[in-house]
Amino acid sequence: MNKITIAIDGVSSTGKSTIAKQIAKYLGYIYVDSGAMYRAVTLYAMQNGLITTNDFNVEALIYQLKNVEISFKYNEALGFAEVYLNGSNVERSIRTLEVSGFVSKVAAVSEVRQKLVAIQQQLGKDKGVVMDGRDIGTVVFPNAELKIFMTASAETRAQRRYKELTDRGDKITYESVLKNVQERDYLDSTRKDSPLIKADDAIEIDNSTLSLNEQFDKVLGLVKMTLEDTE
Ligand code: CDP
Ligand code: CDP
Repeated sequence: MNKITIAIDGVSSTGKSTIAKQIAKYLGYIYVDSGAMYRAVTLYAMQNGLITTNDFNVEALIYQLKNVEISFKYNEALGFAEVYLNGSNVERSIRTLEVSGFVSKVAAVSEVRQKLVAIQQQLGKDKGVVMDGRDIGTVVFPNAELKIFMTASAETRAQRRYKELTDRGDKITYESVLKNVQERDYLDSTRKDSPLIKADDAIEIDNSTLSLNEQFDKVLGLVKMTLEDTE
């Protein structure tokens, strides 16, 4: 059977990574969380004093990008590849609301995007990849055989993300999560370089009222149709 490339884009907390992991597992494909890479660069900037409460030293980050090494290592127990920053596992520390609060500013820097897109294209060069993000179907893999664009209301998404973060013990409020989701939607879709937009040939799925199972069945149907078409 031919291997294909599956691009899953959409606004924050729509369930992109959940569905991407499930489909990758089902097909035996690799899964790449491109957002984790932007989050890891943001964590680097925070840890190295390039981002403080009121300041983001863009020039210093661009200069130091050569020191930022991002890689993925498959975790057998979790069933997906975790992200590493300069050799350290940062899968958990990149998910805080602090990182979420700055990541869209870091992701708007073209030099950051160029570096990460090159790594993403290398990871997917042999197809057999499911990648989720904001510009996968438009910039990273414009020829992907299947492109999905996920949406859901901001309130639904904030509720889901709030539950996820409080379940793991983070002390945050629902209002702060909603504000972050809305801010990132705005910044990600209005930036100059690779803004979040639906590719013309992407299939839009609003999952506001879909359970995880319903969402999986819907996407799996699209995957099977695409695989048949490419035979
Ligand atoms: O999981 P969530 O939807 O909250 O976000 P994410 O996928 O972890 O992505 C975090 C941020 O990285 C996004 O808000 C974007 O600013 C940026 N991003 C991007 O610019 N391009 C991508 N391909 C993936 C993420
Ligand atoms: O990757 P992205 O930020 O788009 O979303 P995610 O991390 O896959 O999903 C965010 C949260 O929403 C997770 O806790 C999912 O289990 C939950 N979710 C849900 O409850 N129902 C859906 N239809 C989709 C996601």
